[in-house]
Amino acid sequence: MSDPQIEQTRVLLRQAAQFPLGKEQVDALRDVLRFHEHRYYILHDPLIADAEYDLLYKELERLEKENPPLVRPDSPTQRVARELTSEFPTVKHLVPMLSLENSYNAEDLLDFDRKARELTGLDTIEYCVEPKFDGGSISLIYENDRLTRGATRGDGVEGDDVTPNVRQIRSLPLHASLSEHGIQQLEIRGEVLMDKEKFRLYNEALMEEGQPPLANPRNAASGTLRLKDPAQVAKRNLEAFVYHISYYTPLPGKSTPNALLTHEGSIELLWNLGFRSPQREKRVFQGIQGVIYYCQAFETERDSLPYEIDGMVIKVNELSLQEKMGMTSHHPRWAIAFKFKARQATTQLVSVEFQVGRTGAVTPVAKLEPVAIGGVTVSSISIHNEEYIREKDLRLGDQVLIERAGDVIPQIVKSLPDARTGTEKKIVFPRQCPICQQALHKEEAEAVWRCGNWECPAQAVERIIHFVSKDAMDIRGFGEANIRKFYEAGLLPDIPGIYQLDYEKIGTMEGFGKKSIEKLQHSIEASKKQPLHRLLYGLGIRFVGETTAKTLARQITHPLDLKDKSLEELQQWEDIGPKVGGSIHQFFQEESNIRLIEKLESLGLALKQEAKTKTTDGSLSGKSFLFTGTLPTLKRSAAEAMAEAKGGQILSGVSAKLNYLVVGEDAGSKLEKAKKINTIKILSEAEFLELIGS
Ligand code: IVH
Repeated sequence: MSDPQIEQTRVLLRQAAQFPLGKEQVDALRDVLRFHEHRYYILHDPLIADAEYDLLYKELERLEKENPPLVRPDSPTQRVARELTSEFPTVKHLVPMLSLENSYNAEDLLDFDRKARELTGLDTIEYCVEPKFDGGSISLIYENDRLTRGATRGDGVEGDDVTPNVRQIRSLPLHASLSEHGIQQLEIRGEVLMDKEKFRLYNEALMEEGQPPLANPRNAASGTLRLKDPAQVAKRNLEAFVYHISYYTPLPGKSTPNALLTHEGSIELLWNLGFRSPQREKRVFQGIQGVIYYCQAFETERDSLPYEIDGMVIKVNELSLQEKMGMTSHHPRWAIAFKFKARQATTQLVSVEFQVGRTGAVTPVAKLEPVAIGGVTVSSISIHNEEYIREKDLRLGDQVLIERAGDVIPQIVKSLPDARTGTEKKIVFPRQCPICQQALHKEEAEAVWRCGNWECPAQAVERIIHFVSKDAMDIRGFGEANIRKFYEAGLLPDIPGIYQLDYEKIGTMEGFGKKSIEKLQHSIEASKKQPLHRLLYGLGIRFVGETTAKTLARQITHPLDLKDKSLEELQQWEDIGPKVGGSIHQFFQEESNIRLIEKLESLGLALKQEAKTKTTDGSLSGKSFLFTGTLPTLKRSAAEAMAEAKGGQILSGVSAKLNYLVVGEDAGSKLEKAKKINTIKILSEAEFLELIGS
């Protein structure tokens, strides 16, 4: 840990806490920020607190703003995109982007090895093996240490110039010290990915907005690369792996860097330049046998990776041998992809059922001829709404391509019109609720048809199922089937009914023994202590998913606090826009919803939660601060950042929750108020600095 950047960071942080940094510090600031971005985005092992990074970033931003000639295109501040892209110009790759030949089993690999030995005349070949990342391919050009172009694959010869979007990918450095390795220009290949977890959240957000989800993280990544608004690209948090150097020119007077004699060396060089290359995943083997074992072993780990891979890539390690072996017009002869078991399959769409959800939304569900994908049998898949059916041109009797990407819910990728026989039928969407027969309605901007009957039995049951579900109140052993049974028997008319069950009556029903009733009673009782965000999610407020529920819970201590929040107030909270805010606001204006919450509280649910403090492991974790008046040396923002960096929380007013009031000159009313609460400690700046150990 003797990196000079660490010492430099301390120096800059100490100085920035006391006075503004000077323009002669711009270069040092940039280097330090790049160093910490690499720690964060590539190594996933940050060395400073977010607040400290932000403090330094803001200083750089200010200095560049005050001294425009000092701005460089590869500065950490220059990812921020301001303009929409009108079109993506077509650009030619320096070297064509080829595809890979595929293999599916050990025999295919043995065959590949045999051909490779024939072509090279060698007895044993050294191979380098790495994951085959399942995203959208990109080609990047760096010149004089700067990222100058990022392009999609296109037809392999020409692609779309998507540089503004590529600049938003935090794991791609804008600056890479090629010159230190004697390189002037570098063209590299890689794959843009969306993390499985980010993809899940992204799809969740799409569905909360009533939009159909995307089939897999690959489509999400490729689609994102083509967005016209780079700011939107930034929000989607794409990742990139780079795995191939397709072209480079040495600096005048320099020769080929030693690293560039093997593929393994190029992966290492890319890693040392600050890229996310498969440095940790790659393995070198003498001969094909080890390669086969490694490929098979890696397949078992596929699901535990945070991103999707669809196989492994085996490359002849020596670059001089690669050159000797050459390529066909389609793929190099020195590499092959080993494809994992497919997660796609084709099957027949047999019929469509229309299900009514808890918000009255009518969802078509495709019933399929059962088919196994990646070890799971799939027989029904949501097809979301009428528009989705039209867009995908789905018909009854169609052959459809379906995909199950890891732990992601299966989706229909497309129908296969070429396989039609002429007997396929149009899918007719009902105009009446299939359960209560009430006429369905559709709002203009929406794709979803809804049943507006609050008392529709389908909705009532679905509301209870949602409330009980794993991500909401998580009442174990209270499955869908039982909920439906109790509802039909009149024992469970609504959500409060969960806490008023007549266990004696249940005991007389078929399939309920003493043990199972006790178990159910126990988990229902335990759910009364669930944290607030679970209840908020369980209430089934439209557009409020788990993430929004957590945001809300951070801001309040009781669900009914939301009753008093204006739409404007709600929208000041993270990720709450007019639509989500509007829905929350409307929910809490509805008398019946207020009564529902009051009823739950009267039935013993612990709805009041303690005010939350940020969870950090800093020495001031759990302590709260407020700064007032002018401090003798520290800027207010710097002092706050210092407290936050140690885990402290900044409050906006004096209350019994406050631990420390730090006072400067002209402190005023806050000081007077704090003096009346004897649990608040009043500190000078010097005492504060001592407390935080600075
Ligand atoms: S090497 C000439 N390595 O898979 C070099 N490709 O199906 C050819 N891919 O077009 C590419 N991970 O987009 C290589 N570790 C990896 C890869 C990889 C994913 C993609 C790449 C290629 C496609 C072929």
